[in-house]
Amino acid sequence: MLMHLLLLTAFCSHVSSGEWTAHVVESIDALMSSCVVVPCRFSHTGANLPASRLRAMWHHSDSRDQRIYYDDKTMILDSFKGRTRLLGDLGNSNCTLEIINVRNHDNGPFCFRVELVRREDNKPTKDMFSFVEKCVTLKMLSDAPPPTLTHQKTAYQGQSFTITCAVIHTCPSHVPTITWNVEKSNAIVHHKDIRHGNWEVQSILTIIPEEKDDHREITCSAKFNGLKTSFQTMTLYVKRSVNYNHIIVPTVVVIGTAVIFGIVCILMARKYKSRISELQNQEGTMWNRLSKMSRRIQRKP
Ligand SMILES: *[C@@H]1O[C@H](CO)[C@@H](O)[C@H](O)[C@H]1NC(C)=O
Repeated sequence: MLMHLLLLTAFCSHVSSGEWTAHVVESIDALMSSCVVVPCRFSHTGANLPASRLRAMWHHSDSRDQRIYYDDKTMILDSFKGRTRLLGDLGNSNCTLEIINVRNHDNGPFCFRVELVRREDNKPTKDMFSFVEKCVTLKMLSDAPPPTLTHQKTAYQGQSFTITCAVIHTCPSHVPTITWNVEKSNAIVHHKDIRHGNWEVQSILTIIPEEKDDHREITCSAKFNGLKTSFQTMTLYVKRSVNYNHIIVPTVVVIGTAVIFGIVCILMARKYKSRISELQNQEGTMWNRLSKMSRRIQRKP
């Protein structure tokens, strides 16, 4: 029996030899009553360990017995029972932790620790690996952070106008929802990881303002998990699209009239010119006839 145990221990220490590291964010904001997701990764440079032999634990930095997350739920602190979940897949070296219904005193620091269990009876081996130097502190926020609005200064009547509302949060498992006080708004939503456990939700609203929308208040509201809300408001300034019709129409009319009048004058002048020269020609023949006649008269003595 003793030999058997010794052999097992030898086997386990063989398996566990290698470097263990963990990456946990040092500090993360947590909105009270909402949830927080603490990103965590660990790695082992030695033999590949099967996930079935790994047990994850998150505990208070004060003591390893103050567990806030563990496989055996009975060993979790009462104040954390039902509030913690391992979102990460241990087989993928992911030890990401979710805490829901964040309470005032959930500051931590909380530390990640992984145990190697025996295949035979699922009991922790003597070789336990602790990353107590990698702990996270939660910074409590009692109020939801307000969203930020970005947009161009002025909107033009009848031209599409884009407003972006963005809010930062630390609960990607229950993303805040963004709404606008605009009827039939179809906003585009983006969600992105901005690192160190922080995420940003963006809602991009496009409207086509009308004249009556000038000085209208546009509000974007963010509703967080746990129902805390925050909002931001902007005033819409709509410039009327510039209309030159009151200048263009009379100008066109005046120029058009002048052109038509000019053409008529030229045509008239031409017509009269030819008529005058015709008359002059007729006059000429008359004169000729008269002079011929006078010559004949003069010849008769
Ligand atoms: C770890 O798991 C979380 C929750 O499933 C996931 O969002 C995250 O992308 C994972 N991290 C990595 C590095 O795969």
